[in-house]
Amino acid sequence: MLPIHSPQIVLWIHILAASVWIGGQVTIAAVIPLLRGADGLAAAAGRRYQVVAWPAFAALAVTGVINTSNAGIAWSDLGGTSTGRTLAAKLGLVALSGAAAAMHAFLQAPALRRRKASTPRPAASALLGLLSVTAAILAALLGVVIRGT
Ligand code: HEM
Repeated sequence: MLPIHSPQIVLWIHILAASVWIGGQVTIAAVIPLLRGADGLAAAAGRRYQVVAWPAFAALAVTGVINTSNAGIAWSDLGGTSTGRTLAAKLGLVALSGAAAAMHAFLQAPALRRRKASTPRPAASALLGLLSVTAAILAALLGVVIRGT
């Protein structure tokens, strides 16, 4: 059997965390509409998802920094080499994904919970979720591109 090295363990955790961050958002988006019929269930499911989502996001950030060093990319490369610029674009997408998810979870969702049941849900709520997952999917693509260089 081939040996397992520590950079591979870090990358493995990075990929597992990406699966939770992206896969969790896709899954929650798929089931939330079904849960809206039951009183408080959609909100409770959303809150439970946060319990796994933010640790996964933190794990992505920590393992991402270690991946960067393991891949031999210096922070001074960010604007200077094509790999560095790809990582910079990826970091922009990661920031966008985190910011959109945070706005959705901590500002919009609590406001939506306070509204009357008959009030239509603002389209911005779904849009922020879509923005977060799309940015994360594109960040994953750039990660694969960096890995392939
Ligand atoms: C939403 C957040 C993120 C997602 C979804 C994500 C996803 C991924 C994926 C899928 C890969 C490819 C793994 C492979 O091809 O085997 C990867 C690689 C990589 N990621 Fe991330 N990542 C995220 C955040 C970050 C952050 C914050 C950093 C840096 C601070 C980072 C740095 C890297 C690096 C340098 C690689 C290439 C590793 C190598 O060449 O060995 N990632 N990422």
